[in-house]
Amino acid sequence: MNNLLLKALKAENFGKRPPVWLMRQAGRYMASYQKLREKHSFLGLCREPELIAEVTELPIKEFGFDAAILFSDILLITEALGAHLHFEEGKGPILQPTLESGADVEKLYGRSAMPLLSHVVDGVRLLKERLDVPLIGFAGAPFTVASYMIEGKSTRDFAKTKKWMFNDPKSFHELLTIIADMTADYLNHLIDAGCDAIQLFDSWAHVLPAKQCEEFSFYYMRRIQLKLKSCPLILFCRGSSIFYEGLAALSPQGIGLDWQCDIAAVRKKLPQIVLQGNLDPDILLADSHVVEKEVKSLLEKMRGDPAFIFNLGHGILPTTPEKNVKTLVRCIHEFA
Ligand code: CP3
Repeated sequence: MNNLLLKALKAENFGKRPPVWLMRQAGRYMASYQKLREKHSFLGLCREPELIAEVTELPIKEFGFDAAILFSDILLITEALGAHLHFEEGKGPILQPTLESGADVEKLYGRSAMPLLSHVVDGVRLLKERLDVPLIGFAGAPFTVASYMIEGKSTRDFAKTKKWMFNDPKSFHELLTIIADMTADYLNHLIDAGCDAIQLFDSWAHVLPAKQCEEFSFYYMRRIQLKLKSCPLILFCRGSSIFYEGLAALSPQGIGLDWQCDIAAVRKKLPQIVLQGNLDPDILLADSHVVEKEVKSLLEKMRGDPAFIFNLGHGILPTTPEKNVKTLVRCIHEFA
């Protein structure tokens, strides 16, 4: 069993190199994934335990990452909250009907993610029999999930969400509470089934001012954290280059950094916590020698750090050449 990730999550990786995995490591940049997508829709892949396991394992087998992340999506949970979810080619997720006001939130009380998402739990069980690397389970943080339920799709600024938040914070808090409690229950099922670590994604926290980020994003990550069974937890948000102190104040095992900060400078301010990140995903679109130079530069910066996990600052882009991913992993494996 390769346990580099678990060692790093305990700040006890005293080996030469850090563990590496990439956000969205199983996805469209892979020819093998594209091939599966010719036969199955994205949601079709997410709903069948055998396929969940197969796709999760693809990047481990092809690139040799040190951890697997469960193949799923942060928006599946919205179906347990009554949304109809589908993915449109080139457009991304579409959720209907959208939430419009506090009256819609009232209708969401008393729901549960199980048994609707039990196929995800079955996928975890299959993977635990097959993997020789740790398995990361994940969920969206309540603010990001709520914003998709309100907007119904990806937008640039999440203006409808923020308008609701500012106009009617009480019902917005109620919505976040319902999502947080359902998410904690869902994640506890994943932990029971064998996930070795959990990551929460608050992809849209960076649209919030600092005060609202504390009140509407971090507060609900904390609510989930307090309800989770014992399991290492990594908190990631876009905007973590600015908000990392607030994230670290929640005392998870680790925080994920986006690519705008100098990770070595953050380490000086936060000597204790596990840091994950933070290569700019666009670097993987550049020429191989550039990839090699930038990966080595990040490795050098964090040399000897027992609590560092190599990752990107956000998800890998669908246009990433696979050979650059191979170069990245090779540089890390060879680092001495
Ligand atoms: O990291 C992994 O490999 C695990 C799988 C994973 C997916 N989505 C698979 C996926 C994870 C962790 C996610 C998280 C997710 N999903 C987030 C938060 C993380 C982030 O990137 O900030 C968000 C906001 C979503 C919602 C979502 N799912 C969007 C906006 C999209 C469309 C993206 C696009 O460019 O079209 C998805 C689709 C999605 N989720 C794909 C995959 C592999 C692509 C589906 C396909 O067309 O095959």
